[in-house]
Amino acid sequence: MKREQWGTRAGFILAAVGSAIGLGNIWRFPYMAYENGGGAFFIPYLFAMLTAGIPFMIMEFSLGHKLRGAAPRAFSKLGVKLEWLGWFQVFIAAVIAVYYVAVIGWAISYMGFAFTQSWGADTNAFFFSEYLKLGDNAPSKLGSLQLHIAIPMVIAWCITFAAIFTGVKGGIERASKIMMPLLFIMVLALIARVIFLEGAMDGLNYLFRPDFTKILDAKVWSAAYGQIFFTLSVGFAIMIAYSSYLPEKSDISNNAFMTVLINCGFSIVAGILIFSVLGYMAQEQSKPLTDVVSAGVGLAFVTIPAAINLLPAPYILGPVFFLALVVAGLSSHISILEAVTSAVMDKLNWSRKKASTVVCGSGFVISMAFATNGGLLLLDLVDYFINNVALLTSCLIELLVIGWLLKVSDIRAYVNKISEFSIGIWFEICIRFISPIMLAIILGKNLINTVDQGYGGYAMSDLLILGWGLVAVMFIAAVIINVKSLPQNGSEV
Ligand code: PHE
Ligand code: NA
Repeated sequence: MKREQWGTRAGFILAAVGSAIGLGNIWRFPYMAYENGGGAFFIPYLFAMLTAGIPFMIMEFSLGHKLRGAAPRAFSKLGVKLEWLGWFQVFIAAVIAVYYVAVIGWAISYMGFAFTQSWGADTNAFFFSEYLKLGDNAPSKLGSLQLHIAIPMVIAWCITFAAIFTGVKGGIERASKIMMPLLFIMVLALIARVIFLEGAMDGLNYLFRPDFTKILDAKVWSAAYGQIFFTLSVGFAIMIAYSSYLPEKSDISNNAFMTVLINCGFSIVAGILIFSVLGYMAQEQSKPLTDVVSAGVGLAFVTIPAAINLLPAPYILGPVFFLALVVAGLSSHISILEAVTSAVMDKLNWSRKKASTVVCGSGFVISMAFATNGGLLLLDLVDYFINNVALLTSCLIELLVIGWLLKVSDIRAYVNKISEFSIGIWFEICIRFISPIMLAIILGKNLINTVDQGYGGYAMSDLLILGWGLVAVMFIAAVIINVKSLPQNGSEV
């Protein structure tokens, strides 16, 4: 059967942007910028975007376009002994898929709470005790299934499944064409209101005021590089799968630039939204801004609800904010399940309907582990290892394979043959030298830190089994699949 294709170029870009723009842009980027020197963070961030983000995106778009397969097939076409890297990436995608959906589920619940601000005044106690019902749990001591968390997750799974089941053009592309414009409109409408609130400008000054002393700090550079791969959805099978559905005539370099710039632009816009709100909140509570800023889960589900309590017309702005989170999250969730589904379709020759049903069905069952009392802790631990160990390893190996084992100049020649504007030698320099060196340093530091200090105060046994163990199992399983598909008589083809 002929491989499916995107209907239009805009459809492909919206889908790729839909994958890239996710929860990470809204809750992770603003805090990181703030933590790492405010306005000065933009220098390492732009550097990471130019030297790692754009070259990596061009590389993955060309791999998918040229080799016409999801990550495992694409890598196996580059060399029979490289298929494992594709599977390792698919496993990263699969693991993210099962916990990311929990956060989407929380956001769906919070959209409901936002109509009446039923989270009350103490949004911290509400989130952890009343909503998550977190007690003396641990990542390995989950407690029981919480239906009120499971049900919104089921809703999220149904939407994702519907899109994947229907197919590339009729499902994923159609969903992206609705979701992305809707997201942009909602975020712009929110900004248009909150930017005029008292204190908003103080918030923005905090975010954008450069602290140039931080630029010399290696941690800031490491934060920028660490963020760029996750935020662009590269290195974990997604962009290769999406670009494998590009029509023959496609402008690779243009598409890659657009996707990266729209994603990073959106991050800055999200930063403006979040920091206007935080500035207003600090002003209302007459606290310094540093006292109200928080990161990650706490930012979206504790701080923002508290800020919403103080907003004019909270019953409108609140639900719109959480709907924006849901939409941003769902379009990413769709992409990550497509990465897994397309790999299964390629490998087992299954129909899309069968593969998507099996993949989403098993994903749903496993994701229920995160709808428990201790689900947040498991999520936190697994997310740390996936982002700081597995994903960076996968990106580094991909760079080394393409840059040193194979000929990166072939990729450049391929891109330049089919794209309107040509990419220069800088592309090869980034792929071969700059990005791998930066990644190796960051990964090395992460590994040493994690071995030395563990993470988040979790028990050693939890770190060993659910952290290191999980990554090891993903790697071993990928290698086993690869070995089994090697030609039996020992001759390499
Ligand atoms: N790019 C996404 C983000 O910034 C990350 C992601 C993509 C997560 C796809 C899950 C699935 O949030
Ligand atoms: Na992103």
